[in-house]
Amino acid sequence: MNAVTADLVIRNGKVVSPDAVIEASIAIKDGRILAIGADSAMPPAKETFDATGLHILPGAIDDHVHFRDPGYPHKEDWESGTAAAAFGGVTCVFDMPNTIPPTGTAEILAAKHEIAAAKAHIDFGLYGLLGDDTIANVPALVDGGVIGFKLYMGNTFGKIPSPDTGATLECFEVVAATGKRISLHAENNDIMERRQKRLMAAGIRDQFAHLAARPPVVAVEAVSRAAILAEWTGARIHVLHISTADELRPLREAKARGVDITGETCPHYLMLSTEDYTRVPGVIAVNPPVREKHNQEPIWQALLDGSIDVIATDHAPHTPEEKTRNDIWTVDCGFPGVETQMPLMLTEVNAGRMTICDYVRMSAYNPARIWGLYPRKGALLPGSDADIAIVDLSRTHAIRDAETQSRSKISPWDGRAVKGLPIHTLVRGRFVMKDRTLVTETKGWGRSVHTIQKMPKPTVRHAEHSMQSITNARS
Ligand code: DOR
Ligand code: ZN
Repeated sequence: MNAVTADLVIRNGKVVSPDAVIEASIAIKDGRILAIGADSAMPPAKETFDATGLHILPGAIDDHVHFRDPGYPHKEDWESGTAAAAFGGVTCVFDMPNTIPPTGTAEILAAKHEIAAAKAHIDFGLYGLLGDDTIANVPALVDGGVIGFKLYMGNTFGKIPSPDTGATLECFEVVAATGKRISLHAENNDIMERRQKRLMAAGIRDQFAHLAARPPVVAVEAVSRAAILAEWTGARIHVLHISTADELRPLREAKARGVDITGETCPHYLMLSTEDYTRVPGVIAVNPPVREKHNQEPIWQALLDGSIDVIATDHAPHTPEEKTRNDIWTVDCGFPGVETQMPLMLTEVNAGRMTICDYVRMSAYNPARIWGLYPRKGALLPGSDADIAIVDLSRTHAIRDAETQSRSKISPWDGRAVKGLPIHTLVRGRFVMKDRTLVTETKGWGRSVHTIQKMPKPTVRHAEHSMQSITNARS
């Protein structure tokens, strides 16, 4: 006898975990997974959904998006950004703090939480801005529910000032004690600023000048320095958008030393190269830049051997006008990605580049683990939130910027053929995208995931040298 009635049973799909693909049905109740197993073992349900022939994945967790809200509604907002995510099989995003005003105080954070909760179709976390001016705000930002911190070692869109090394060390000291992870835009600001100034003075303003201002050493130096400061303080760090083969050595060496350092890359560093620059001039401009082709293979290898933990997108929407200006120094850097990451990566699964289990590991399982959300998020297990991407691996599709949900409507992916497409997306048991159609009533369904985050206990190092303990001892 079975006393429980499920809200929904998704029947006869191929359920994907990091280790295996199993033929199974999934019962969902109150937004969580109640049971997974043989269809005959499922409880009675108010509703059933046939997933025969489809793969059932934990929804992707994209720990790197810019939804521009508040501040730049013409580029994106929480409604359009999360609609794009829903179409991309993404059930949770972490939003970056370079909005207006930047997310650097508890009050601004609270206001952003409200905006997001009113508009989001999917779940979210909000980064707090970490820099020289916000060190003192760290405890209040943690209390206010940041998912983690973002520190801009190098300048990019939004012109957030980059802390110098002294301030960066102090930032790491303070955040180390909280146990939160710090995501890093790891590019050396001094090198970039100097080179850009000299290039501009020489009147060089073609798109390759952008690349010339940010050679790989800019990233390698920043990753290496950040790893040393993290090792010293015990701060947890996450290296965003790894773009070069050269960054892999300091990343791997730091991991081998036991530094709590994780890495991320994005589809554009795996699939685009300088060979694409003339095809989509300006549109492809992003920080860090898309690089020479020889970087692709080592980054793939690192993603597959686990040196790079996460595939994310750096979804950075701008308008066609902002992307196609003649002077590269005035072009807004970045392009949308939250909607196309999964189809692009599933195309690689179909091509034999990796298994679908590998994909789930880097898109859902790893991000959930490193951000303290596992197994509520990033897993299809009894008790997990029913955050699900139902994908058709055999479905072909051409990416068309004009048809995307993002307000940006311009990317280097326009016209690209993919094979493997999310067809339905559920967040906490509710369809937010069904049959490639947005469920508009789910606007406002998204919730901040900071309430379920459990980071491991902090491991602070060299506390006796921290500015705080020294000034406390003398006061
Ligand atoms: O190209 C980029 N655009 N890189 C970043 O780091 C920021 C982003 C944006 O916000 O537009
Ligand atoms: Zn970014």
